[in-house]
Amino acid sequence: MLFLLLILLGAGGVLSTGIGLYVICYHLLTADIPAGISHPLKLRIFHCVLLLFMTWGKVLEALKICSLPRFVRFMHDLMPVKQDPDVVVTDLRFGSNPVKLYQPKTSSLTPRTGIIFYHGGGMVLGSLKSYHRICCHLCKVSGSVVLSVGYRQLPEHRFPVPEIDSFASTVHFLRSLKDYGVDPARVVLCGDSLGGTVAARICQKLEERQDLPKIRAQILIYAKMQGLYFQLPSYEQNKNVPMLTRRFATYCFSQYMDINPAWEHVIFKGGHLPTESWEKYRKWLDPENIPQRFKQRGYRPVSRMPLNESAYLEVGLRLERATFPLMVEDEVVARVPEACLVTCEYDFLRDDLLLYKKRLEDLGVPVTWHHMEDGFHGVLNTLTLRFFQFPCSARIMNVIVHFIKGL
Ligand SMILES: *[C@@H]1O[C@H](CO)[C@@H](O)[C@H](O)[C@H]1NC(C)=O
Repeated sequence: MLFLLLILLGAGGVLSTGIGLYVICYHLLTADIPAGISHPLKLRIFHCVLLLFMTWGKVLEALKICSLPRFVRFMHDLMPVKQDPDVVVTDLRFGSNPVKLYQPKTSSLTPRTGIIFYHGGGMVLGSLKSYHRICCHLCKVSGSVVLSVGYRQLPEHRFPVPEIDSFASTVHFLRSLKDYGVDPARVVLCGDSLGGTVAARICQKLEERQDLPKIRAQILIYAKMQGLYFQLPSYEQNKNVPMLTRRFATYCFSQYMDINPAWEHVIFKGGHLPTESWEKYRKWLDPENIPQRFKQRGYRPVSRMPLNESAYLEVGLRLERATFPLMVEDEVVARVPEACLVTCEYDFLRDDLLLYKKRLEDLGVPVTWHHMEDGFHGVLNTLTLRFFQFPCSARIMNVIVHFIKGL
């Protein structure tokens, strides 16, 4: 018995060491840490931790013990939640959707601004718990009521579940603003990464609702705005920059959209759509719409490969039918609320939001734009990590709070 236990322990030790070594080698061989990033070593450590979780997730998934997304979320949720004496936090359910409500403890004579926050994480990472510190901070420094919205995630739930769940919670909140002391004229939707996608879509969907208070503004932080075109400059320039490398992005996206990741090479060469489709979407997706200054760092325009018919049938058709914020007609986009957009130079998805920015500006929607020259995808999540904080995360929070206070 003891002998068996020793063997098991030994095997576990060998496996852990093996995985650890693999992760470090994989990181050193593949990750690109641009010179413009302020704390390269911190980013390396973050990336190795993410890779470690992902690799263990894959092992556990292969052993049918636990799915990868569930394991990774379990791991990041082990981080202790810190209570703030100035903020009252309430866990609620709107229907079956979990939400967290953050209210400043000090009383206010007038109704407050309300912020509905949608977290990111690409359906793999991210949870109400892992965004607790960010929402708490946002509530405290902006003096607003913050509603953090949860949605069902992978492995069971896929596109467009985050949008459906978040929309329901948003409508629920908009109908009960009075109960939470929120001014109906000052409700802001805010999200990072996939949460930004959700925020933008909800703004578009709410435009047709006359029965609800009008959204005052939207704040979109490095959001994914389209799911068709993968040859934009940033997709090329930042494909190996952590935390969102092309490999991780492909994993999240293919799981989320339920497509086979084996199509990656066709999709990234544009072989999944016929020429007629490209002609149709060009006005929204053309790299010509991205300012020249973003194309200087190692970007050469790449030609599209010819149509791969099976990729079109299996992937292209599905992606064409999926509504992302950038793929919505002008009549709708022209009516969305004022926007504050935050982009990061070293973000794989940077150009999605740059394209949306141009769209909004062309249609006359007021835009405030902040570009973080030293930012990377996911940097906001380091905001409350003390030693592991990147200064850029505090700058993002500052510009958001400044925008909200100016409304
Ligand atoms: C389409 O792509 C797949 C996967 O790369 C490949 O196996 C297949 O041969 C391609 N088909 C055509 C017609 O090019």
